[in-house]
Amino acid sequence: MGSYYFDNAATSFPKAPGVGEAMADYLTRVGCNVGRGDYQPAYAAAERVLEVREKLCRRFGGPDPRNVIFTPGCTYGLNMVLKGLLRPGDKAALSPMEHNAVLRPMKQLEGQGVELAWLPCTDTGELLLDRAAEVITSDLRLCVLTHVSNVCGARMPVEEVGRLCRERGVLFCVDAAQSAGILPLDMAAMGIDALVMPAHKGLLGPQGLGVLILADGAAQAMEPLISGGTGSRSDLLEMPAFLPDRLEPGTLNLPGIYGLGAALDWWEGQDQAALRRREERLTGHLIARLAEYAEDGLRVLGPGEEGRQVGVVSVDFLGRDNAECAYRLERDFGIQTRCGLHCAPLAHKTLGTYPQGAVRFSVGPFTRFEDIDYVQGAVGELLSG
Ligand SMILES: Cc1ncc(COP(=O)(O)O)c(C=O)c1O
Repeated sequence: MGSYYFDNAATSFPKAPGVGEAMADYLTRVGCNVGRGDYQPAYAAAERVLEVREKLCRRFGGPDPRNVIFTPGCTYGLNMVLKGLLRPGDKAALSPMEHNAVLRPMKQLEGQGVELAWLPCTDTGELLLDRAAEVITSDLRLCVLTHVSNVCGARMPVEEVGRLCRERGVLFCVDAAQSAGILPLDMAAMGIDALVMPAHKGLLGPQGLGVLILADGAAQAMEPLISGGTGSRSDLLEMPAFLPDRLEPGTLNLPGIYGLGAALDWWEGQDQAALRRREERLTGHLIARLAEYAEDGLRVLGPGEEGRQVGVVSVDFLGRDNAECAYRLERDFGIQTRCGLHCAPLAHKTLGTYPQGAVRFSVGPFTRFEDIDYVQGAVGELLSG
């Protein structure tokens, strides 16, 4: 029995070719810090870090490589934005499809006097744009929205929400945890003020590293959540005023940045449109294969259409224990999925799968079509057993 990895929404695997080698190369051959040491290898490493910022800035339509902030992860970046921008008395909008990386800081902020406004969604996890437009009013300080649901893969209309936010003077933060590397993203074109992502999902980089890209206005408005040494303006007892230093205290995750740099190099050598088309076809294939069991007690969550969702497809084994089904998929067929509430309890309430949760299958660029056929066979056996 082989092993079939269908948990790319948790973290992608395998990583892009060259990522592990680049990280090992940094640790074994480079090793030094950046922004601290006045010697050649430190300058060369700083140049590579800048190059990675430039690549990210280009890829995501950021205003300037200095506005690309490295963080210890997506959760960390989201906390930086939300807690750096919102103050007691402010009002902020979010959707019930958010991950706990947004929900929990927002509930914490609510406890400190921030008023929350909810953007309504359908039972397929999609934003009701007309009704959302009534919630996004000019008295909001911020609107935060996931680009893609990590539970059902539903795509959110970030471009339209970005336009509304811009018209109404509201800052717009996008959680791109499930879309960066998968869907096109352009901050300038989409009206995004803060774009937050992890390195380790769709970008095919390593864990322990995240990226936050800020428009100039948001960067100026944000208070640093964490402060500390930057290797620059050490005479000051406050954080330096300039980016990225103002928001990037402490030693950077340099092995991680080298790894992400290698992933971005790999991406640049690919036909991205072809990869995007392949991801769409894989998604359509996975939805169609699972939907064949609609009459046999399998409910496929989400929009159920490849253009409206990405390759994150969850199912509810009606009348059965989803955890047991996920366990049997692994034990009997070697299929690795994720079961439960996926750190998004309100998304499950919206989709009608709370508290039982769902079994999530998520594909990556190295998933094969025949792996999906194998999943179909395994699910069929499970349902008939
Ligand atoms: C939509 C969404 N947002 C945020 C996160 C948090 O990412 P990380 O755990 O890498 O910080 C995840 C992780 O699964 C996610 O799916």
